[in-house]
Amino acid sequence: MTTFWSWYVTILSLGTIFALTWLIFGTRKGQRQEATEETVGHSFDGIEEYDNPLPKWWFMLFLATIIFALGYLVLYPGLGNWKGLLPGYEHLDNEAKTPFATDIQISDGVRNAGWTGVHQWEKEMARAEAQYGPLFAKYAAMPIEQVAQDEQALKMGGRLFASNCSVCHGSDAKGAYGFPNLTDNDWLYGGEPETIKTTIMGGRQAAMPAWKDNLGEQGIKNVASYVRSLSGLKNPESIETDVAAGQNIFATNCAVCHGADAKGQQAMGAPNLTDRVWLYGSSFAQVQQTLRYGRNGKMPAQEDFLGNDKVHLLAAYVYSLSQQTEEK
Ligand code: HEC
Ligand code: HEC
Repeated sequence: MTTFWSWYVTILSLGTIFALTWLIFGTRKGQRQEATEETVGHSFDGIEEYDNPLPKWWFMLFLATIIFALGYLVLYPGLGNWKGLLPGYEHLDNEAKTPFATDIQISDGVRNAGWTGVHQWEKEMARAEAQYGPLFAKYAAMPIEQVAQDEQALKMGGRLFASNCSVCHGSDAKGAYGFPNLTDNDWLYGGEPETIKTTIMGGRQAAMPAWKDNLGEQGIKNVASYVRSLSGLKNPESIETDVAAGQNIFATNCAVCHGADAKGQQAMGAPNLTDRVWLYGSSFAQVQQTLRYGRNGKMPAQEDFLGNDKVHLLAAYVYSLSQQTEEK
């Protein structure tokens, strides 16, 4: 903090505390000790105020807040150069691996730098690492299928999922428009434990091209009808499309990714078009939208963010979800 701001904070905090102290003691002077029927003489719309002292417990409460404020200012840094009484040690050579601990001895190369938020965060991280690090490492060394049988591991995985994945895939992992359902055993990229892990580690980028310039309006309608017919969907009578022409278009343009049987290709993340699972909707309008403008779903890579051990747990968790579905 610059000198100006540190004075600003100091004067404002101490000034307010002193002013409030003066206020509660100042107004106490000359007050009667006992309750009374007399009023102070004000009348607000006929409502009058008894001239009674502040209840004792209330006065004590005010006093307690002031003492708390002073205690806080003494313990924590904030006023001028005051470092606070709470310790926070710092290694003087910046290369030290752990810049902070509360419980190290002051010795050569270590000094008390006072409490800071950064110190506290580092300490909590170190504590979490000490507590969970060995657990994560233990699970990371086990095969995913086995981790998926472990109740504690699934609990940890579930918590990781809730904080990192549920924004997109939903807290029940059942997905939403554009975000795949992870519980249904229908996979874009494959449901083998290691494949799931690869997906989460490296992310995925789908590339379904846009066809509006190549196929034209009628071509889009025809192939959309054909694709829908594969999962038993029919267009309203009023719409005329040529499903056979659509089938030809499919064989020429689409089979390369979605497969000649339209059952998809996991290597490219091209979905199975013959089932009833739709990522972008199954209505005639929605399928046409998909075909006209293409789709580029992106699963963000987690390797740098969460690291191998956490992703390993997540893979086990996601795998376990699909296993539950299978049993039904
Ligand atoms: C920003 C949104 C987003 C977040 C956050 C996200 N995902 Fe995804 N995920 C997607 C999208 C979109 C896809 C589908 C990609 C595509 O269309 O090909 C996907 C695909 C997947 C798949 C592949 C599904 C299949 O059918 O093969 C898995 C597994 C997965 N996500 C797991 C996770 C896990 C675990 C997390 C948490 C670490 C996570 N995702 C976080 C958006 C997200
Ligand atoms: C280059 C490979 C590629 C080609 C060629 C391709 N697709 Fe796709 N298609 C994909 C991928 C990948 C996705 C998944 C997009 C996503 O997850 O964001 C997809 C998604 C779709 C979907 C959405 C499915 C759903 O669940 O909502 C439909 C429908 C579709 N394609 C139809 C077609 C048709 C019809 C053609 C030919 C005109 C075609 N695709 C050509 C790769 C391809």
